[in-house]
Amino acid sequence: MTSLARPAPSWPCPPAPTGPPRPRAAPRLDAGEVTALALLNCAVREICAPGHQLWPVEPYLVVRLPRVDVTLRARLLRPQVMTPRLTGPIEELRDGWTPLGWRRLAGLIAAELELLTGAANPEFTAQVTASHDAMAIMIRKGRWPREQADLYLESEQSLVVGHRFHPSPKSRQGADWLRYAPETGARFPLHWLAVREDAIAEEGDVSLLDRLGPPVRDGYRVLPAHPWQLSLLRPESEAVIDLGPYGPEAVPTSSVRTVYVPDAFLKFSLDVRITNCVRKNAWYELAGAVALTRALRPVFDGLPAGLLGEPGYRTVSAGGPRLHEGLSVIVREGVTGFAGTPLLAAAIADPYGRSDAAVARLLHDASPDHLLAWWDAYVRHVAPPVLRAYLAHGVVLEPHLQNVLVSVDDDGMPIQAIFRDLEGTKLLPGPWASFLADLPGPVAQAMTYDPGRGWDRVVYCLFVNHLSEVAAAVADLCPALERELWRLARHHVARCAGETSAVPGGAGRLRALLAGVPLPAKSNLRTRWARDPDREAAYVSVPNPLADLGADAAPNGATAPPTSGSAL
Ligand SMILES: Nc1ncnc2c1ncn2[C@@H]1O[C@H](COP(=O)(O)OP(=O)(O)OP(=O)(O)O)[C@@H](O)[C@H]1O
Ligand SMILES: [Mg+2]
Repeated sequence: MTSLARPAPSWPCPPAPTGPPRPRAAPRLDAGEVTALALLNCAVREICAPGHQLWPVEPYLVVRLPRVDVTLRARLLRPQVMTPRLTGPIEELRDGWTPLGWRRLAGLIAAELELLTGAANPEFTAQVTASHDAMAIMIRKGRWPREQADLYLESEQSLVVGHRFHPSPKSRQGADWLRYAPETGARFPLHWLAVREDAIAEEGDVSLLDRLGPPVRDGYRVLPAHPWQLSLLRPESEAVIDLGPYGPEAVPTSSVRTVYVPDAFLKFSLDVRITNCVRKNAWYELAGAVALTRALRPVFDGLPAGLLGEPGYRTVSAGGPRLHEGLSVIVREGVTGFAGTPLLAAAIADPYGRSDAAVARLLHDASPDHLLAWWDAYVRHVAPPVLRAYLAHGVVLEPHLQNVLVSVDDDGMPIQAIFRDLEGTKLLPGPWASFLADLPGPVAQAMTYDPGRGWDRVVYCLFVNHLSEVAAAVADLCPALERELWRLARHHVARCAGETSAVPGGAGRLRALLAGVPLPAKSNLRTRWARDPDREAAYVSVPNPLADLGADAAPNGATAPPTSGSAL
């Protein structure tokens, strides 16, 4: 890509060579190593750091699982700013350092959690194993980078590694998953049903479905179904006629259950656990999506960001909640109306650089100054709209890496953020009292967050889940920049502090953020272990890189590693 014209780099990274772009040597992608690193990332964040069991001993991070009394280490790529950037191999201290595979690590973590919580979880290792095995197949089957005409779709289908802070990011139940896996480039025609009009439940604008579906006889309406879901949930109702596969191929996006049909998305229910949830649209979320789209339009008209609204849903009213929820489809707006090329943020942050959207490829030949300019544009488009939505409007977005698209221009520079997924979008009860009062109780309740919980969600998704991973991907190209990246981010956050907050306590929360209050990180490992629903997930604290408190503070207050320095 072309570099912007600017003064010579003043950063201590090697300047980009002239000549044609050279592909960056991406880190080795091995399912065992990725699985082990995800487990270790979780353990470090949720067990070792809170228990002060971490010691940076260059070039390693040494950690201990205290209850099973095991000491481990992995390579620390650079000093910790928020979250340690670790890479394999992972080793265990026995008689010297011995390589440790993902299976043994999963077993050690399970044993530690059993002692920590007093509860067992017999499903845990099977879920880790399923995730590992699925990832191994995805790596084998996927060709990267794909020669796809559409870089946006390539980015949606590139998440072979998935959530880097989840113990089983790629676990999918059942034998059929591969046919529908975005990570292997799956495409498939949708299955269509004709549903008798008196057995249809719908709200909002679903005219897209009638345009996409096959013709049906009078008195019936079409309903698309995800073929995987249909194999899990046969609709036994005389009001429903099976019309079979029809129409052009749909492209599954990164969430697996939402598919792209030019130019819109269809979000289906899928009775399969993917990371923390069985992906079923609850009835109150269907109505909630349509109501939220109405509420958010005027909010986004005033924000420099895009929103993929969800203007309607259709489902079956016969057959009870099983069919009502299980066969539901939410219509989501498409992406062609936005300038530039939208890219999935999770693909941009992918440390393995599988997609051409990844920082590792997009910016591989960029100078340090260009990396800074790119990051500055990225944060400027992503962070202020999220913070303003909360502070000025009482809207809690869920801007984690999978819920944000970032549009880039022909030079790869970010020009707009686009937010999606209204299931995780919530309203604060104060500013939205009269809007919420007009909705059915369960619909209003499911879309309401109290201000403290809402702020934690915003801060976790925006900074811990999202920006820290993109910053880390940029810092992988030029480690010396990492603190400067956060100084730039701080600048964009600080500008939001000048605005009046419509949310009581909002301004104080933002000031605390800038003053260095620790950040909330969702505890996916503990949540999976406890088999808690995602909405009950707890948070643990991680260091706040926005505070700029100086480079010298030892993370987590650790003093000395558990054994002699020479062994470490
Ligand atoms: N960093 C990440 N944070 C959160 N989810 C991630 C991340 N990386 C990958 N994922 C995957 O993205 C999905 C996030 O779930 P989420 O509830 O936001 O989406 P959804 O409601 O299923 O679908 P959609 O986003 O299409 O509305 C999960 O499938 C999860 O495994
Ligand atoms: Mg999502």
